[in-house]
Amino acid sequence: KKGETEEYVEVDERERQPNSEQKKWESEQLASAMFQFGAKDAKIKDEYDLLLDDQIEFIQALTMEGSKSKDKKPEITETEKHKMDIEETKKSLPVYPFREDLIAAIQEHQILIIEGETGSGKTTQIPQYLYEAGFTKDNKKIGCTQPRRVAAMSVAARVAQEMGVKLGNEVGYSIRFEDCTSERTILKYMTDGTLHREFLSEPDLASYSVMIIDEAHERTLHTDILFGLVKDIARFRPELKLLISSATLDAEKFSQFFDDAPIFRIPGRRFPVDIYYTKAPEADYIDACVVSVLQIHATQPLGDILVFLTGQDEIETCQEVLQDRVKRLGSKLKELVILPVYANLPSDMQAKIFEPTPPNARKVILATNIAETSLTIDNIIYVIDPGFAKQNNFSSRTGMESLMVVPISKASANQRAGRAGRTAPGKCFRLYTAWAYKHELEDNTIPEIQRINLGNAVLMLKALGINDLIHFDFLDPPPHETLVLALEQLYALGALNHHGELTKLGRRMAEFPVDPMMAKMILASEKYKCSEEIVTIAAMLSVNSAIFYRPKDKIIHADTARKNFNHIHGDHLSLLQVYNQWAETDFSVQWCYENFIQYRSMKRARDVREQLVGLMQRVEIDMVSSLPETIPIRKAITAGYFYHVARLSKGGNYKTIKHNQTVMIHPNSSLFEELPRWVLYHELVFTTKEYMRQVIEIESKWLLEVAPHYYKAKELEDSTNKKMPKTAGRSTMTV
Ligand code: CDP
Ligand code: MG
Repeated sequence: KKGETEEYVEVDERERQPNSEQKKWESEQLASAMFQFGAKDAKIKDEYDLLLDDQIEFIQALTMEGSKSKDKKPEITETEKHKMDIEETKKSLPVYPFREDLIAAIQEHQILIIEGETGSGKTTQIPQYLYEAGFTKDNKKIGCTQPRRVAAMSVAARVAQEMGVKLGNEVGYSIRFEDCTSERTILKYMTDGTLHREFLSEPDLASYSVMIIDEAHERTLHTDILFGLVKDIARFRPELKLLISSATLDAEKFSQFFDDAPIFRIPGRRFPVDIYYTKAPEADYIDACVVSVLQIHATQPLGDILVFLTGQDEIETCQEVLQDRVKRLGSKLKELVILPVYANLPSDMQAKIFEPTPPNARKVILATNIAETSLTIDNIIYVIDPGFAKQNNFSSRTGMESLMVVPISKASANQRAGRAGRTAPGKCFRLYTAWAYKHELEDNTIPEIQRINLGNAVLMLKALGINDLIHFDFLDPPPHETLVLALEQLYALGALNHHGELTKLGRRMAEFPVDPMMAKMILASEKYKCSEEIVTIAAMLSVNSAIFYRPKDKIIHADTARKNFNHIHGDHLSLLQVYNQWAETDFSVQWCYENFIQYRSMKRARDVREQLVGLMQRVEIDMVSSLPETIPIRKAITAGYFYHVARLSKGGNYKTIKHNQTVMIHPNSSLFEELPRWVLYHELVFTTKEYMRQVIEIESKWLLEVAPHYYKAKELEDSTNKKMPKTAGRSTMTV
């Protein structure tokens, strides 16, 4: 029996294609209607507004037709599930019938691999079953790691609600710069990075009876390293239970790694998802997303939409455009509730995505990768997948790290599509061609450990006393060059000696949950007597979301306000001015509003700053200020980020010192028009060009002062065509 909502049909996404003539026809119709706009927009950007009116008329016409047919059709799924009380919801999850078998298996085996479709209840239910089965007796905790902070927070909130306790009491979470747990906490959700740090203070995880490494398939750097660490601990703590939980087909691989641990499979439930491709590639996928959402809203039966975008910027743009167009369409359309989800989303906003959709309305969730497997949002019927994600990439050849928008893998595409079929049959609109899916997407995403800078991880492992990294038990080992480069960087920063052992400085650096360059900058502030300023700058840089607010209708005002903070020596100092002026107003909300500053980001910066100040006290750094003098501040920054230096070259371009790569100052920088001879950047972002973001002016002679191991005077002479500096000590380094 097919097609009824009570029936669950298992579908292998990889084989799923529109399967009848009828479907093919529908998909072509829809695709061509949907994407004629995208293509036109790309060609004639200048006539955008005109075109927009056309679109609105077209969509209005569709709406009229759409609403006729909608009246007849009963709505699929909808808020049914939310109406059930918590107990019933819990019972409805696929994992529920297996809870006793699962507990029995855990009692029998020390290590268990758990595989189950996203949304089956692994993350929220299994810790509760363990608690009910008595695993938290004797004052022991159950830990559960998540690769993403938003997931850790929201899942903990959900479980606290299910158990009827206050978040932070029996159920809590711990993420970087935010610990929401207490003495009473027995179920603890945390990011994989946080557990990694916990090893420093509790190397045998003695306070835990069970550790769940969740979302193992995401293969983040921290999760991968945790595999090696927990495997080791399991050997000498036979009473510790270890669960490795994963959404996809990697279970066999995990099992092999963990000495053939048994695999517990939770049978999936999935409704069929029809997949539609575009006929031609999309030039502007954000616009294609907007048009697709409106199209679905105008023509398709009710049911929520999930759109995958690459980051906060894109999500905000998409949200604005969508809101604007919905407004112009007015009452012709049913209500469209637009909700963003991304890593830095404030927690009160996160809760909104799980609230039931109001009757007769449709929810559109604009999400990053986070909604791919980490978060399950019920009642999604339509998925729009442009096929991209942001990825951190590191080249061991150039030593450069950059955040890039890259095509996703087939595995990701299939996960994304799967989100449409959790509660009813769904549709997935891929904004790329079937050909591209087949020929251009990789099968799987490359694990992070093989493509990012390992400086941080290596410092942590060294701090744990693991000296021989080449022979560390990696699920997939990192490339040798990347490992060597990380060791060299730590050596140049002074964190390792030439035997590759942790120095006193390195030990202090490891206290800070930030990357080694930032940790070094913070510690250098002691020498340069500017700890007050550096800790503020570190906090502002760590917030990593927009500080400045730029509403479309007030762009000129916003930009003027922003310019007022511009510091002649660069962006770190501009950020410092923003923070200090805000602090002078006693952290006023009104002040933020008047100056087009995001209050939420500032509040977070303040929290982060407080935490960092606490850590500085632990390593006994006094808080002192160097203002109005800024040279010490810039020197301290240089002491940490001397790798990130570029020199002015022809045509306003810069060349990085190390690898002679062409880079440019980001247009948002206060130095965009200044073009100082020597600059230091916080990060590189690759869009159309390689941009340096957050830039300060420095003097080349400081490099010799702060990194004598790394730079030689000759290499910093101010003429072109000089040879690149070599890393000192390479031949004597012990790996
Ligand atoms: O971990 P897994 O993907 O197997 O599933 P889960 O995250 O435990 O989700 C189980 C159920 O809890 C789903 O129906 C989610 O929609 C729901 N949930 C929720 O309502 N609110 C959250 N913050 C997290 C999960
Ligand atoms: Mg989960």
